[in-house]
Amino acid sequence: MNSLRKKHGEDFDIEVVYEDQPSNDWTSLFYRLQGVIPKPESYLVAHPDVRVFASGTSFYKQCFPNNSLHFGFSCAGMHWLSRLPCKITDGLHPTQITVAEEREMFRRQAAEDWETILVHRARELQPGGRLVITNLGTDKDNQYVGNTKRIKCSLIKHMTDKGRTLVKKGIITKEESQSMNINTCRSHGRRN
Ligand SMILES: C[S@@+](CC[C@H](N)C(=O)[O-])C[C@H]1O[C@@H](n2cnc3c(N)ncnc32)[C@H](O)[C@@H]1O
Repeated sequence: MNSLRKKHGEDFDIEVVYEDQPSNDWTSLFYRLQGVIPKPESYLVAHPDVRVFASGTSFYKQCFPNNSLHFGFSCAGMHWLSRLPCKITDGLHPTQITVAEEREMFRRQAAEDWETILVHRARELQPGGRLVITNLGTDKDNQYVGNTKRIKCSLIKHMTDKGRTLVKKGIITKEESQSMNINTCRSHGRRN
């Protein structure tokens, strides 16, 4: 905010639009922004004239008018797929897939979804606008969220192993285990 005002003048109008699914906890967001939840302090305290809005439109649709966005930022959100391409036979999360066909179905869905996301963002961005997206992924050393060389226990693997144990002990069926997942898909208005 400070550097934008320094560059464009103290009267420069800044508009921030938060974007998430309709099921997002919007009340907590606005409580935080408006200081009802006091800490950590919201930037609106220092910059009360910043205009703040919210959009509950999925990023798989166009969220902003054509050529309207100067700067877009998404952190750890746009790897969520638009649909589950198939059940995972033996795991709670795509990182745990053991069946090659399933991995390929997820890969194809992710490629198709990525294109949809970029086409919408390209329409929204002004010429010269900027977009920064950080997504979760797996690197060549099979490191992914919660499973890196400096972390002793992988949460996702641990939960998958617990699910397998429940099947082995006959506490849940294989089918029930395959219907469980860690949500990385659009939730269609349901709470996650
Ligand atoms: C892992 S959280 C990251 C939240 C936040 N960006 C952060 O870094 O703390 C993923 C977010 O993406 C949102 N999300 C998932 N699919 C979405 C979609 N199709 N459209 C908009 N938001 C979506 C989820 O509701 C969730 O709030």
